[in-house]
Amino acid sequence: MKKIILLIIVTILIILYSCDSNTYQDIEQDPAATTQDNSGSTGSTSGSSSGRTSGSTSGSTTTSNVTYTTDVKPIITNNCVSCHFSGGESPALTTYTQVKNATSGGSLLCSIQAQGCKVMPRSGKMSQINIDLILLWKTQGYIQ
Ligand code: HEC
Repeated sequence: MKKIILLIIVTILIILYSCDSNTYQDIEQDPAATTQDNSGSTGSTSGSSSGRTSGSTSGSTTTSNVTYTTDVKPIITNNCVSCHFSGGESPALTTYTQVKNATSGGSLLCSIQAQGCKVMPRSGKMSQINIDLILLWKTQGYIQ
């Protein structure tokens, strides 16, 4: 009797597993099709494939490929540009080049992570999700 129950459980698990992997394949095909026209460089191809792997485990498409336009710019606009506009008292962070230079120079990452610099935004650190997105943007090579 116990063996039969065990057999049923194993069968259910196998069915569930095979359904699962089908679903993931379906999901993974969509972002692949859309990210291809987003980025044409060779560097971003490797970035997108590694990003997709982590994206499928969390089930989120946001982390699949971090770009300035869709991910980083809204964060900077919402949290920083009120002070960091061009012509303001602090360095402007309104264009791709300005944000990229501040990030690669280290001052931006140092301040948003409060690593011994003045904390930015001045009201306190942003959510870790925003900070991680900017770090991932750097790792993937500042995709525009
Ligand atoms: C309330 C205004 C304000 C906000 C919001 C703000 N900053 Fe600043 N930030 C400043 C000011 C003013 C300075 C100039 C240095 C100083 O006196 O603190 C500065 C300096 C900096 C610097 C150092 C520049 C350098 O060359 O050393 C960086 C990097 C920076 N901010 C990034 C950011 C980022 C990224 C955000 C958003 C996450 C942000 N700031 C939000 C006011 C602000």
